[in-house]
Amino acid sequence: MGKIGFIGFGNMGRAIAEGLLKTGNFSKGDFIVSVKSAESNEKLRREGFKVANTNEVVQESEVILLAVKPKDLPTVVSQIKDLPLLEKKIFISTCAGVELRKLNELFGKNNLKLVRTMPNINVKVGKGVWAVTFGENFSAEEREKVKKLLALTGLVLEVEENLMDSITALAGSGPAFVAEILDAFAQGGVKLGFKYETALKIAVYTFLGTISLMEEDNLHPAILRDRVTSPAGTTIYGLSKLNKEGLKGTIVEVLEEAYKRAKSL
Ligand SMILES: NC(=O)c1ccc[n+]([C@@H]2O[C@H](COP(=O)([O-])OP(=O)(O)OC[C@H]3O[C@@H](n4cnc5c(N)ncnc54)[C@H](OP(=O)(O)O)[C@@H]3O)[C@@H](O)[C@H]2O)c1
Repeated sequence: MGKIGFIGFGNMGRAIAEGLLKTGNFSKGDFIVSVKSAESNEKLRREGFKVANTNEVVQESEVILLAVKPKDLPTVVSQIKDLPLLEKKIFISTCAGVELRKLNELFGKNNLKLVRTMPNINVKVGKGVWAVTFGENFSAEEREKVKKLLALTGLVLEVEENLMDSITALAGSGPAFVAEILDAFAQGGVKLGFKYETALKIAVYTFLGTISLMEEDNLHPAILRDRVTSPAGTTIYGLSKLNKEGLKGTIVEVLEEAYKRAKSL
């Protein structure tokens, strides 16, 4: 594969690049990057990335990740839309809320290979979630190639475009919700006598272990819950309070709120 271009190298662009580097299949020399500010440009050069202007990124790459904020996308596209041979490139947009129809409209062409995705930040450690919707003009081989590339950094799910706002809530915002819940566990640990750092470590390992167990034994959450819940034991007392307070309902509503916000953007 030719170079991978990144237009935008903030939280998401960097997370994807670092995730790919971690696989050992890529080196920094396989990437070419454009950013907006002189500071980011200088910092990336010092780190050993090849930094160029946006036109060069497109011209030198086979696959280009669009990782700028949605508001900056029109400017970026206006800079590149008239370059030659764009139809030979694959553009992977990570921009939340920007529909394929809108992307095509910005480019003013309908012969381009455009993919809309919603990754989450966990791609950095190879455990991300990528929802993917392909535009037109892809061969089966090209679709596989894109999915194979993204799968290096996590789970790839091909979804109907109308599910993108749902995945934005569930997986895109998900890491922030999980982090808050872990913080609550750690604070509970502090109340029960641990230092915050120790309580957080215990909480993180409890989550990691629970997830590994569920994955390895292919367990439904309710089965795992029942295995830990003995008659008149500590867990059922905790669960009964948890259910009384409506935690599950709250989490469902949290996701619904994030979904509504994604839809309104
Ligand atoms: N963060 C997440 O968890 C997450 C999750 C899912 C999807 N996304 C999507 O990923 C995209 C990027 O988000 P982010 O959080 O990475 O934003 P970010 O941290 O603000 O990074 C944006 C990057 O775009 C660059 N940029 C802005 N205008 C540019 C231009 N005209 N030409 C070239 N580069 C330009 C910025 O350059 P400077 O460094 O010079 O400012 C920066 O490197 C967004 O569309 C967002 O919806 C993010």
